[in-house]
Amino acid sequence: MLAVVPPPVTVRVPSKVNLHLAVGDRRADGYHDLATVFQSLSLTDEVTVAVADEPGVEVHGEGAGTVPTGASNLAWRAVEELARYAGRDISELKVRVVIRKGIPVAGGMAGGSADAAATLVGLASLWRLEIGRDELAVLAAKIGSDVPFVLHGGVALGTGRGEQLVPVLSRHTFHWVLAFDRRGLSTPKVYAELDRLRADGEPPAVGAVEPVLEALASGDPRQLALLLGNDLQPAAVSLRPTLRRTLRAGVQAGALAGTVSGSGPTCAFLCESGEDALRVAAELAGAGVCRTVRVAHGPVPGARVVNDESPR
Ligand code: C5P
Repeated sequence: MLAVVPPPVTVRVPSKVNLHLAVGDRRADGYHDLATVFQSLSLTDEVTVAVADEPGVEVHGEGAGTVPTGASNLAWRAVEELARYAGRDISELKVRVVIRKGIPVAGGMAGGSADAAATLVGLASLWRLEIGRDELAVLAAKIGSDVPFVLHGGVALGTGRGEQLVPVLSRHTFHWVLAFDRRGLSTPKVYAELDRLRADGEPPAVGAVEPVLEALASGDPRQLALLLGNDLQPAAVSLRPTLRRTLRAGVQAGALAGTVSGSGPTCAFLCESGEDALRVAAELAGAGVCRTVRVAHGPVPGARVVNDESPR
């Protein structure tokens, strides 16, 4: 009798921007306690998982050459976590993961985390596992602090390492321009730089989170623009001083405000409307302050199976 090979499963997964990122002191385990507001963005990766004789990870698209394809790739970590959960032998995994990247690598937009979240969703479907979103979120948190959020999507308040989420209702769409830098930044190095800056003095810190939630509820991008804040921004700018120029250029091009996304170096500019975002993107692209410019909107859904038939 012939074994039936299930068809490949494709998952689309969003990136994220932190509208508010308050970083506490370094904990004994090396992590920092966070209070953050995540918004998912329409800049996405697509991940296809398939049964294959040659297991492994393959990466195409934005920054593909710089992504590891071995066991250190977060998508492969996701394969192993789900295999362990399902009681499968991890030395004999006949799974191929093909990643098509739109999210910048090491850009502060949860690109690697997105691939892990997408792999969890895709493989759970490929293997026909009876696993709920909550159980997937537990596996996601083991892989990385941002993985639960990109699995979930929408808008959420994150605490702990950023993996403990409370959904935030947000009916309004916000429009963004994203400026990708020429090279990525290492997240641990940015956190370490913040610790160093704090040992030397008092870098500027973000305010309370409540006004950010109120601005989201109002749907007014001007109100939200005044409140964007990221404790990691001084550290990212210290490691990559040219970001100061990029942030200035976005506002000069007509954005309401700009912020470093997460640990950077991607800069995210909030705009008044979709048309404004296109205008700002065109002007910023001509300013020569970054490698690539993209427009995006948020919030959007989290990782979900698309199998190529659904519209973007
Ligand atoms: O959880 P994840 O593997 O994405 O974190 C990468 C690194 O970022 C950690 O090793 C740590 O250095 C830093 N980090 C942190 N505090 C957090 C999240 C990440 O210090 N809340």
